[in-house]
Amino acid sequence: MTLPSHGSNPSRLFLSLGLPQPEHIIDFSVNLNPIGPPNLSPHSWGEIQKHIIDYPDPECYELRRIISNQENLSVSNVLVGNGAAELIHLIIQSLLREKDVLVVEPTFSEYKKVSLLHSCQVHSYVLREDDGWNINRDELVLRLKGKAALFLCNPNNPTGVAYNRDLLYSLAKEAKKEGVLFIIDEAFFDFSIHTASMSQFIMDFPNLLILRSMTKMYSMAGVRLGYLLGDEKLIGKINEHQVTWSVNSIAQNLGIHFLQDGHHVLNTKRFIAKEWKRVSQTIEDLRFITSKSCVNFYLLRENQKQDLQDLIHFLLKHGIVPRHTYNFTSLKGEYIRLAIKTEQENDELLSVLQKWRAQC
Ligand SMILES: Cc1ncc(COP(=O)(O)O)c(C=O)c1O
Repeated sequence: MTLPSHGSNPSRLFLSLGLPQPEHIIDFSVNLNPIGPPNLSPHSWGEIQKHIIDYPDPECYELRRIISNQENLSVSNVLVGNGAAELIHLIIQSLLREKDVLVVEPTFSEYKKVSLLHSCQVHSYVLREDDGWNINRDELVLRLKGKAALFLCNPNNPTGVAYNRDLLYSLAKEAKKEGVLFIIDEAFFDFSIHTASMSQFIMDFPNLLILRSMTKMYSMAGVRLGYLLGDEKLIGKINEHQVTWSVNSIAQNLGIHFLQDGHHVLNTKRFIAKEWKRVSQTIEDLRFITSKSCVNFYLLRENQKQDLQDLIHFLLKHGIVPRHTYNFTSLKGEYIRLAIKTEQENDELLSVLQKWRAQC
């Protein structure tokens, strides 16, 4: 059996490696908010549950209105999707079929997978650890010529590294000049204290699309919710391809509720920054190398690059589930990706990593 292609599938990982699953496991392969969803009073939950019998609003109007207010845009600049994953499909299906697309990698595998599904030619701009997983602007600009689209994830999954906003602005300008659609996936930007969104430039760049996921920050992966910000005409074209009622009414109403909880994002940012400082310090003391992440996950490798299969097996035997990196371009299993979880869960990880270090 092949390894799972995404995180958050622990049983499949144990099965595919032929390992018995311990009774107690902690899934460090999933990148959801360790704080969980915002609090919902029994009354609000009761009100939301009433929508089970309703057809959802096919236009997600109220949710789009709230998002557009927060982003200083108009409702027609916003499209809501059944998770950011649906929106990736819709962008490619509606605008990019059989075209040449450039993907900044290693990154979330869906951009490439869905592009190939729609007969696109996929070109990779490959990031290097020696550059701090950062982009060389001039090299990337040279690669834009002749491409229909550029996919970039900021902060990037799996490195957790955020790109400088001046660099992104400059890339947006170059992309506009070259007629390239620039898709920035900001699924994790709200976990970082320092990362600024590019959403304020939507009106300056009709070639810019900003993708957001609500499933991560609001820990609602089972319900699915994401949205897209962009030029009204582009949003309109993409919208034509969406299945009617694609975003269910529970998701829409939870989204409306959660977006109005200003404290949740701030508390999360503070928690992640504090935990990352603590966890990364111990990990460095144990002589592992990590990516300079600013969000809720990071890459980890041994001092000398090597296939981490032994470490993966060791962690799994001790109930710690990492995300393998065999299907991330250029990572080749030499890294694992780990999420930042609750304090207690992170302590369990650190203690298993200490045991590993003690035996080798
Ligand atoms: C970078 C990135 N974008 C988008 C998605 C999809 O998000 P959603 O759960 O909202 O579909 C993921 C999921 O892991 C992701 O890592």
